[in-house]
Amino acid sequence: MGSACTKLLVCTRGKHCSARDSQDVLTFLRKTIEKAQLDYVLKVKKTDCLGLCKHGPVVQIDAKSKSKGRTKEKVSVSYGGVTEVDCIDIIERHISRSKPIKRLLIKRGKQK
Ligand code: FES
Repeated sequence: MGSACTKLLVCTRGKHCSARDSQDVLTFLRKTIEKAQLDYVLKVKKTDCLGLCKHGPVVQIDAKSKSKGRTKEKVSVSYGGVTEVDCIDIIERHISRSKPIKRLLIKRGKQK
């Protein structure tokens, strides 16, 4: 299960993602997380353009890495072309089982 500070950032303010129904993705994610009673550990936030426009709608997952020391690093994973169906996969596979979803994964260096 994701840590207490896992955030799901949905680009709803960037023009490319918003034109591709990112607001619907955000709404669906929030409803699904609330229905699963996971809203105390997963926070869904609107965000501005993440610089991954051509992959929209983009969902970025920010979590703290599990480390043995006191310092925890932020780990970010970005998914593109996210639909409502993909939101279920993100919650069930990425968040719950820590298994990245390769078909949605945006590889860094292939942006905009
Ligand atoms: S418009 Fe969404 S990443 Fe740029």
